[in-house]
Amino acid sequence: MRALVTGGAGFLGSHLVDRLVGAGHDITILDNFRRGRHAFLPAQGVRVSEGDIRDYDAVAAVCAGVDTVFHLAAQSNVLGAMQDIDYSFTTNVVGTFNVLKAATEAGCAKVIFSSSREVYGEQSVLPVPESASLTAKNPYGASKLAGEAYCRAWASFGSFECAVLRFGNLYGPRDTGRVIPLWIERALRGEPLQVFGGDQVLDFVPVSMAVDALLAAATRPLDGPVNVGTGLATPILALAERIRELTSRRSEIQLLPARGAEVVRFVADTRRMREALGIVPPADPLEALPQLCAAFAA
Ligand SMILES: NC(=O)c1ccc[n+]([C@@H]2O[C@H](COP(=O)([O-])OP(=O)(O)OC[C@H]3O[C@@H](n4cnc5c(N)ncnc54)[C@H](O)[C@@H]3O)[C@@H](O)[C@H]2O)c1
Repeated sequence: MRALVTGGAGFLGSHLVDRLVGAGHDITILDNFRRGRHAFLPAQGVRVSEGDIRDYDAVAAVCAGVDTVFHLAAQSNVLGAMQDIDYSFTTNVVGTFNVLKAATEAGCAKVIFSSSREVYGEQSVLPVPESASLTAKNPYGASKLAGEAYCRAWASFGSFECAVLRFGNLYGPRDTGRVIPLWIERALRGEPLQVFGGDQVLDFVPVSMAVDALLAAATRPLDGPVNVGTGLATPILALAERIRELTSRRSEIQLLPARGAEVVRFVADTRRMREALGIVPPADPLEALPQLCAAFAA
């Protein structure tokens, strides 16, 4: 593969780059390092282009000669998107448009788009299949939905295949600012674990499984978007308790009012993922948590 990974210095992107480089593929990343870090990247074996997907020329320059584009660069979370709604629109919508246009002009064969469970909004029935209504309830979900729509439109008249993966809540090393790393850090300092609401039921996914899904999507033809989740519900209070157990229980759980913007109930229907991508999720969605807590503690 000659692949471009946009957002390749970020959390998910850098794990994908590790696997691609390890398998001997020819890899370029494009990242503006807003959240990405040079330290997350392998010391060699990857071309690093510091640039912004909102700049068409920067995207076109790195698409030349590429066959596969993993498009991960984004304003990647709900609260960040609420704080800077213009950035989330221009990066997630205009940036995605630029990636699709540049991929077409460069003659790329495949684009893999990293979408989110947030496109579904709040669903009353769990697990959520890909055919559920798309009722995004915040600007982040709306921007991912727009990105998906452009992917679908482009794939129908463009020259490349487009795969859309809708990720659940990913976790693992190098993540920052999301519930699992925030709580581990607080727990290790003996500070309270702040729970906003407390009714949340989420589908947590080890980052290694998300990388498996991206790699499978690159080589398999997909008929429509695919959820990437474990299909197992983790109540947020159970997550807090698990982190307390793994960090010697010094922290209390502090219940605070719900924040409103984020989808609070999601479990993926994983049938399509199992069939189309051949991914079998772990029996325990939090199986990677002990190792992660140990890494934070070290
Ligand atoms: N982590 C999750 O739980 C999760 C869940 C669903 C979907 N996703 C999606 O997966 C992808 C990767 O997420 P992540 O968790 O690794 O996020 P991340 O924020 O760690 O990585 C995103 C990367 O994109 C880069 N970036 C941001 N704006 C850019 C721009 N305008 N131009 C160039 N680079 C830019 C950042 O510097 C960062 O390195 C994103 O598209 C995100 O929306 C993530």
